Amino acid sequence: MMLKALIFDLDGVITDTAHLHFLAWKSVAAELGIAIDERMNHALKGISRMASLERILQFGGKATTFSETQKIVIATRKNERYVALLSSLGPDAILPGIAPLLAELKKRGIKAGLASASLNAPRILASLNLLDAFDFCADASRITHPKPHPEIFLAACTGLGVVPEECIGVEDAQAGIDAINVCGMLSIGIGASLNNAGLLLSSTEELTWARIAGLLDYTDKATAVNR
Ligand code: G6P
Ligand code: MG
Repeated sequence: MMLKALIFDLDGVITDTAHLHFLAWKSVAAELGIAIDERMNHALKGISRMASLERILQFGGKATTFSETQKIVIATRKNERYVALLSSLGPDAILPGIAPLLAELKKRGIKAGLASASLNAPRILASLNLLDAFDFCADASRITHPKPHPEIFLAACTGLGVVPEECIGVEDAQAGIDAINVCGMLSIGIGASLNNAGLLLSSTEELTWARIAGLLDYTDKATAVNR
């Protein structure tokens, strides 16, 4: 395999904003009389803002309580609180191993892309001082099918000018791993309890160039044997 690009999820891979999403949803949900816990939050990983709200309302038995307009007001309120929490984010919030890996990719002429469902992705990359590290960021506002549909990863490939077979995707959510696999890209999972990842690592600290090169080598040998 001729590796031309790595395509990254943002939340849980580049930085960890899951807790900030949780705090914002928790306060908004509490005002609706719904108590959410960390387990609920885990189920919202990789899920878009409106879909997250639907899940929370369903969880609280209020799936049909609000009109579409009211739901937009609630989601906007959540986002305002989330964005306020993001002001605390700086380059020190980049997860371990990510900055050296991005530098290594640049050195090797391998492109870096972003495939995040977050409409706040550009703002977050700017806070982390990482805008220049990415060659292309897929625009979540133009994506019509959420992960596990492959649309956002395919949009990232198109923007980078590569085909999926030349890429590795990195994800911390099952929906993301499934999306990467459907594309025909190699997948790397970060964290426990992910199924069907081409390589599963326990944290971003393990996401080194050496591990990636090892995966490429292994895949090439397996392909040669199967031929
Ligand atoms: C990521 C997070 C989700 C979040 C989604 C949308 O995928 O993992 O928890 O709901 O982005 O984020 P946004 O910033 O657009 O509300
Ligand atoms: Mg994620």
